[in-house]
Amino acid sequence: MKIGSLDIEQGILLAPMEDVSDSPFRRICRHFGADIVYTEFISSDGLVRNAPRSFQKLKIQPEEHPIAVQIFGGDIPTMVEAARVAMQSNPDFLDINCGCWVKNVVARNAGAALLKDPPRMVAMARALVEAVPLPVTVKTRLGWDRTSIVICDVARMLEDVGIAALAIHCRTRDMGHSGSADWSWVARVKDVVSIPVILNGDVKSAQDVQRAFRETGCDAVMIGRAAIGNPFIFRQARALLRTGQPEPLPSADERIAVCLEHLCLLIEHCGDERRATIEFRKFYAGYLKALPHAANVRRELMAFESYLPVEERLLRYAEELQTQYGSLPLEEIETMDETYAC
Ligand SMILES: Cc1cc2nc3c(=O)[nH]c(=O)nc-3n(C[C@H](O)[C@H](O)[C@H](O)COP(=O)(O)O)c2cc1C
Repeated sequence: MKIGSLDIEQGILLAPMEDVSDSPFRRICRHFGADIVYTEFISSDGLVRNAPRSFQKLKIQPEEHPIAVQIFGGDIPTMVEAARVAMQSNPDFLDINCGCWVKNVVARNAGAALLKDPPRMVAMARALVEAVPLPVTVKTRLGWDRTSIVICDVARMLEDVGIAALAIHCRTRDMGHSGSADWSWVARVKDVVSIPVILNGDVKSAQDVQRAFRETGCDAVMIGRAAIGNPFIFRQARALLRTGQPEPLPSADERIAVCLEHLCLLIEHCGDERRATIEFRKFYAGYLKALPHAANVRRELMAFESYLPVEERLLRYAEELQTQYGSLPLEEIETMDETYAC
C-alpha cells in the first residue's frame, strides 16, 4: 500500500480512538509492530480556536511515525484551516473523520453525517487535498443506515478528487458498534477503485487479520478495540502473516511489564499522576486478559490513584502467578480448571 512516500505491504494499523490512541499508547503499539498509527480525532473548531485540549492531541513523538492526524468538522473552510494548523505536527498524512456516529458530532454535520450528503463529503475532501501538501485520506462507514449503503459510490468519488487511501469501518452509522462488521463491502470497493482500501471493524485476533487479507483483498487492516490493553496483537498478526504459525500468547510477566511501562508513559504525558492513573483504568482488562483470576486483581487496581500501589499489586500478582504456575505457557494455564486466590 502506498500513501505518499509510505510503502507498506499488508499494513496492520492502529485505529484512531478518542481517549485511547494518545501518544503513549501509539508509541507502545508502534513498538509492537503497528505499521501506522492515527491520532484520536481532533476537532477542527478546537484547532482554529487554539483550544488547549485540541493542541495537546497534536503532540507527536518522533518514534510514532508513520502517523496520521485525524480531524473532524462540518464546516469546510474551518476544516481547511484546521488542516493547515495540523501540518505543524508534521504527520505523514492527514485523515478526515467521516464515520463518527455519536450524536454531538453528527449534530454538527460532521463525522458520519457526511454519509447523508456524499457530495459535501467529497467537496470537503477535495478542499483539503487542494489545501495541504500532504496526502489526505478518509475514514468512513458503509452508509448512514442499512437502506442507504453508499460506500462504493463514495469511494469512487473520493478517488476522483485525489484521496490517497480509504479506511472503511464496515458498519453503517445506525449500527454504532453493534451487530457485525460486514467485510464483504471491502472486496466490492476494491473492485471499483485503485487507491488503497483499509479494512476496519471486528478484527479481534491475529487470525482475523489473516482472514481479512485473504477474504477481501484489502491493502491494510486497522485494529481498534482489540488493541486496547493488547498491543501484542500487532506482533502476533505480523508473525502469523510471515510464518503462517500463531505465536504463543504473551507471558504474564510481559503483559505486566508492558502495562506498567504504559502507565509510566501516560503519567509522564499527562503530567498529573492521579489523573493518568484514573484514566489508565480502561487498559487493565486488556493487559490482564487470559490471566488466572484477573478480575479480582483488576478490582483492586481500579481503586488506586497513584503509580506505586499499582506497581506493587501487579508485581505481587506476577510473583503469585509464578509460584502457582511456574513457567507454564498461558495457553495451558487457560485450560486448567483450578481455583487460584490472589
Ligand atoms: C473508545 C473509542 C473511540 C473511538 N474514537 C474514534 C476516533 O476518534 N476517530 C475514528 O475515526 N474512530 C473512532 N472510533 C472507531 C474506531 O476507530 C473503529 O472504527 C471502531 O472501533 C471499529 O473497529 P474495531 O472493531 O477494531 O474496534 C473509536 C472507537 C472506540 C471504541
